[in-house]
Amino acid sequence: MNIVKTISELRTQLDAARQAGKTIGLVPTMGALHEGHASLVRRSVKENDVTVVSVFLNPTQFNDKRDLERYPRTLDADCRLLEACGAQIAFAPSVAEVYPEPDTRQFSYPPTDTVMEGAFRPGHFNGVCQVVSKLFSFVEPTRAYFGEKDYQQIAVIRRMVQDLGFQLEIVPCPVVREESGLALSSRNSLLTDAERRAAAHIYRSMQWSLDFARDHTVAETRQFVIDLVNAHPQLEVEYYSIVDGDTLADVQQWTDAPHVVGCITVYCGAKPIRLIDHIRY
Ligand code: PAF
Repeated sequence: MNIVKTISELRTQLDAARQAGKTIGLVPTMGALHEGHASLVRRSVKENDVTVVSVFLNPTQFNDKRDLERYPRTLDADCRLLEACGAQIAFAPSVAEVYPEPDTRQFSYPPTDTVMEGAFRPGHFNGVCQVVSKLFSFVEPTRAYFGEKDYQQIAVIRRMVQDLGFQLEIVPCPVVREESGLALSSRNSLLTDAERRAAAHIYRSMQWSLDFARDHTVAETRQFVIDLVNAHPQLEVEYYSIVDGDTLADVQQWTDAPHVVGCITVYCGAKPIRLIDHIRY
């Protein structure tokens, strides 16, 4: 596997592959890789001739500086995992390489980028669109792989792809979970063992709500999940929204959308660590 640090070296390698008619899979990551990322990489390796994994902790998508500072950085271990998964290129540029000048572009795809994470982390999706649009331009992939754990992110990126006319396929990949049900996340490594056990209560509560939802309204089910999660002393819900799975607009009735999804954000433990998850009703 080649570890590439510059855009020009990346382009040289990919131009050769493209001229040879090869397909290119891109897996954008911020590093601190885990089995969830590995599943995306393996899928890309299976479906494309060349797989590029970007490992870039994008500062523009962090509205909270402490969150950025605390974010785990594990490039050596990341590269070993990527090599074992069969990726051909790890693209690990510096911030100056990606942003030689401050990126002043503004992206706006309401309601996908204004609700939930968009409301609680102002500027977050703008930063995601800035970096992902750059990665799409550098790599020009045939397909790009994103984990469904960041359910809202995929909806925003789909809108951006449509808006900017990128010729590529977005491939959403299912959440990978621990046996306890906790969704794998780079942030889980910041949890103590006790906090990790507490965090498993998040998905469990949403799962219990599937039964509850059969004979209760959307509003009652939403409150049911919030109360269950908050009943745990280590957990505090920031929001639980029950939305149209495509537009991400709130639903009032279960029949308001062809598929309905519950999206949650919870603060866990003393630090605290912010965790997100979702479930389909
Ligand atoms: O999902 C992530 O890890 C990031 O938001 C992404 C897509 C790599 C952009 O920095």
